[in-house]
Amino acid sequence: MKILNIETSCDDTGISIMEAKGGIKSASFKILSNKVSSQIEIHIPYGGVYPALAKREHIKNLPIILEEVLKETKLNKKERPVDAITVTYGPGLEPTLWTGIVFAKELAEKWNVPIIPTNHMEGHIFSVFGKNKGTFKIPNVKLPALSVLVSGGHTELVLIKKWMDYEIVGETLDDAVGEAFDKVARMLGLPYPGGPQISKLAEEARVRKILSGFSLPRPMIYAKNFNFSFSGLKTAVLYLIRDLGGLDKINEKTKSEIALEFENAAIECLTYKTAKVIEKYKIRTLIVAGGVAANTHLRNEMKNITKKKVKLYFPGEGLSGDNSIMIGIAGYLNYIKNKKKVPKIDSIKAAGNLRL
Ligand code: KG4
Ligand code: ZN
Repeated sequence: MKILNIETSCDDTGISIMEAKGGIKSASFKILSNKVSSQIEIHIPYGGVYPALAKREHIKNLPIILEEVLKETKLNKKERPVDAITVTYGPGLEPTLWTGIVFAKELAEKWNVPIIPTNHMEGHIFSVFGKNKGTFKIPNVKLPALSVLVSGGHTELVLIKKWMDYEIVGETLDDAVGEAFDKVARMLGLPYPGGPQISKLAEEARVRKILSGFSLPRPMIYAKNFNFSFSGLKTAVLYLIRDLGGLDKINEKTKSEIALEFENAAIECLTYKTAKVIEKYKIRTLIVAGGVAANTHLRNEMKNITKKKVKLYFPGEGLSGDNSIMIGIAGYLNYIKNKKKVPKIDSIKAAGNLRL
């Protein structure tokens, strides 16, 4: 079947069309067209995502991107071009989620096709099996699996004992790890989104074998649970900068040293707890996904803790950040699992705080 996928949970407008077939264990996909329009430039002056502006941009972008994917696939929008629509209904920013849902409803009514409302975090989990073009199949994953979901809004350790059955065994008690990267970047005078900026500075320091002269805390690392706290780490950076006399007094080398130590601390918290969960639950597959999964240091450290014993998956090119392909995969697999039963279109609502 052909599916149109829509993602608008934050500041990326994503639309794709894919051909999906097969059962849960044999599902395969062909990407016919995929577009993501990032709003980063628009939010830079605000140092973060400004929801009302994000909503306005989605409303403007959705019809434009739809035209582009229909043109690329040569499908005729007047003649029911797809068999179903998947759309993210949560978690995320309620106003932006609604723009995607309302858009999906209009199309579903016009084309008389079902809507498959899809969980954004489940999308991130499945993103590791996807590709942003061409064809792919869902591999045979050995269970139990663990998914480390790290993004701007979430930091969750999700245990998967049975396929598509989730249990959150650890999560952040305050800021998400991506949020901490963004906030620390802002303190260092780096533009939004800060994750890639911090990561770049830290990588440069590693290449040049610069050692950080600073020491930051690893909050909750020895706590007897699998939870995280990144707000204290962020505050520790704030105090460090203050003690150094403020940002104006800090040179580029000191900035990289702070970025390096912050990244080391944040990633150590993640990998330490992940290793503990792997041990406790005898995990055989590790899935690291979400925007922060693009981080080089995180990838290297996750490789170190899994070695050859645990099969490790990361998102491929263009699939770490928000995209609609992951929504299509998760949506299709749920559609098959639920024997093609879908909710009534009128009942579909945004759920900003939706959990797995
Ligand atoms: O999944 P995502 O695109 O959006 C959300 O659903 O939140 O994640 C965005 C987050 C931002 O906080 C961004 O700074 C962070 O992912 N990020 C990174 C890197 N690339 C993106 N953090 C650390 N290192 C990176 N290379
Ligand atoms: Zn996301």
